[in-house]
Amino acid sequence: MSTTTLTRGALAAATTEFLGSGAKKLLIDGKWVESRTGETFETVDPATEQVIGRASAAAPEDVDQAVAAARRALESRAWSGMPPHDRTKLLLRIARVLDEHVEEMAQLETLDNGLPIAVTRNFAARLSTVFEYYAGWCTKIYGDTYPSSDQHFNYTIREPVGVCGQIIPWNGPMMMAAWKIAPAIACGNTVVLKPAEQTPLTAIRMGELLLEAGLPDGVVNILTGYGRVAGEALVNHPGVNKIAFTGSTEVGKHILASSARDLKRVTLELGGKSPNIVFDDADIDLAVAGAMRAFCTNSGQVCVAGSRLFVQRGIHDEFLEKLSAAVAQHRVGDPFDTATTMGPLVSEAQFTRVNGYVDIGRADGATVSLGGDRFTGSGYYVRPTIFSGVNNQMRIAREEIFGPVVAVIPFDDEADVLRQGNDTDFGLASGVWTRDIARAHRVARALKAGNVWINTYFMIDPIAPFGGYKQSGLGRELGRQSVEAYTESKTIWINTPG
Ligand code: NAI
Ligand code: MG
Repeated sequence: MSTTTLTRGALAAATTEFLGSGAKKLLIDGKWVESRTGETFETVDPATEQVIGRASAAAPEDVDQAVAAARRALESRAWSGMPPHDRTKLLLRIARVLDEHVEEMAQLETLDNGLPIAVTRNFAARLSTVFEYYAGWCTKIYGDTYPSSDQHFNYTIREPVGVCGQIIPWNGPMMMAAWKIAPAIACGNTVVLKPAEQTPLTAIRMGELLLEAGLPDGVVNILTGYGRVAGEALVNHPGVNKIAFTGSTEVGKHILASSARDLKRVTLELGGKSPNIVFDDADIDLAVAGAMRAFCTNSGQVCVAGSRLFVQRGIHDEFLEKLSAAVAQHRVGDPFDTATTMGPLVSEAQFTRVNGYVDIGRADGATVSLGGDRFTGSGYYVRPTIFSGVNNQMRIAREEIFGPVVAVIPFDDEADVLRQGNDTDFGLASGVWTRDIARAHRVARALKAGNVWINTYFMIDPIAPFGGYKQSGLGRELGRQSVEAYTESKTIWINTPG
């Protein structure tokens, strides 16, 4: 893998070729087609605010076509009848093709989303592991046999849910696409994927690579376009059996309400306001590094961001000082520079939103310990910002900011931090920093969150389930849980009289 710093004039030939080939099309039934309306939209490099490409804006008629293609593919023997070993081989072939295009995928993601190239290279190199992991599941999707009398035989099988509408956000577009597509197709489903309008490029390229790997036509269809048009049409489509959504809690609730009409299966991965808790017996340097990563990774644009940092009073001042010193070392700048550790936010809308929360934090009486000044050059940069003197009722402690902004909140003891930590509408992730193993286990049990990280943060891997309590989501993805979420269980009784 390359470790060189790039300039926009020195992109890989494949990247330039991809970007230079005109407005990107929709992938429907194995073919790249324009949207029915011919409408396209711009995608912008958030580091330069320059337009880097155009993609097709799918209209409801395109959603109809894509759903029909996915339905045909579902019902064709080429897909649902494919022997499990062959499906395993196909997913492994996809993994190999993705591995051949790591640098190009990394460059496209950095251009479209602003994530530092060092980070996107790492993500791009791990896309294949998602397909490899689910390749293994193709041959292990089991039902059960149940005890019954001699007069009957009773067993279950797991069948694909059907046509799956998958809607993903802009904060980690290619990894999100892999997490959604791999388990769905491993279970024999077909897919209509809608990437976020801010970051269409890597999903489109992934679609090309899926075809190159030999995925049959119509198994994965990719519709770029707007949430309120293409996303809405997908969610409301009677031909769609399941919606898998990652994004804002607001849109997630709307999707769940819409799904009530025909009881579509729904899984939701939504927002968070995760507590990251540092006890006074923690390894302070480890906890400082972890607390920084927890709110700065991806410029804080992550659902699991450790955006409420609870620090025990005895170490509060020392910890704040060390954290501020560490965070001040961040290299905010051009994401194509390999020395950059923090790129811009994804869009002007996020830039405005995050700066707005910095103003709200100040107005509500929190203290800016680091950052907090507005970036005025070109690019949607926000410097990492630490608020101290926060109480858990302030808006910056209750609402998801989705930027590199942390609210530091002091606490007295275990009971106090559990009460405050769990006092939130969300429940996605949490961190605990302590050397006391009994306390670590006690606190892990008491936290109302789908993920608890002890003396670490950000561990997410397809091997383990991922998801949230409360308003952070519904259901679990990854691990065996995705296999359950992408299959229906059927119980079969056979009369076997003697
Ligand atoms: P969003 O929830 O509007 O967008 C996520 C995806 O949903 C995109 O593909 C979008 O096109 C689609 N979408 C939007 N409206 C839809 C609708 N009515 N029907 C179907 N699909 C629809 O999130 P947005 O506006 O980009 O970001 C706003 C805030 O949401 C962020 O500041 C952050 O707090 C949160 N967010 C959380 C994410 C997470 O990973 N949990 C990811 C993205 C945003
Ligand atoms: Mg973009």
